Amino acid sequence: MTTRLDRVEQTRGRFVGPPLTPRTAAIWSVLRAELDRRGDTELTVLDVGGGTGGFAVPLARAGHRVTVVDASPDALAALTRRAAEAGVADRIVAVQGDGDALAGLVEPASVDLVLCHAVLEVVDDPTPVVAALASALRPGGAASVLVAGRAAAVLG
Ligand SMILES: C[S@@+](CC[C@H](N)C(=O)[O-])C[C@H]1O[C@@H](n2cnc3c(N)ncnc32)[C@H](O)[C@@H]1O
Repeated sequence: MTTRLDRVEQTRGRFVGPPLTPRTAAIWSVLRAELDRRGDTELTVLDVGGGTGGFAVPLARAGHRVTVVDASPDALAALTRRAAEAGVADRIVAVQGDGDALAGLVEPASVDLVLCHAVLEVVDDPTPVVAALASALRPGGAASVLVAGRAAAVLG
């Protein structure tokens, strides 16, 4: 079955830019499995610390709606520019905010897929952030959480 993400990836070289790193390839393989599981459903996605939209823009191009919460206005400005260039500005909402205050920024049970990659290492206290990620999810929703460990840092 060809999914919407497949169709985006088939044209990825023309629209998205540099090739995938091993890190992003590993993340996409996990995300693809979840997106395949959902078929052609339009998902509501929350990307906490989503930065310049490396995941948000392709997901929006695949037809999903993505809210990016990030602490950096510069990253969000780059995200907004990339979203406009990709023609998906209407599918991405950029919210400046601190992951530590996530609970106050996102409606409970409003999201199908949460992404939180390389962020829990830098928040003040990851425990309430993880709780807020979980409470943002609708029943049956999924979370993709990536946290660097010491072993990974050494390997890196
Ligand atoms: C290493 S980048 C990861 C970007 C993206 N998630 C990825 O995996 O490619 C970390 C991102 O988290 C954001 N960030 C750092 N501290 C944050 C915080 N307390 N709350 C929200 N975002 C934060 C940074 O602005 C940056 O965009």
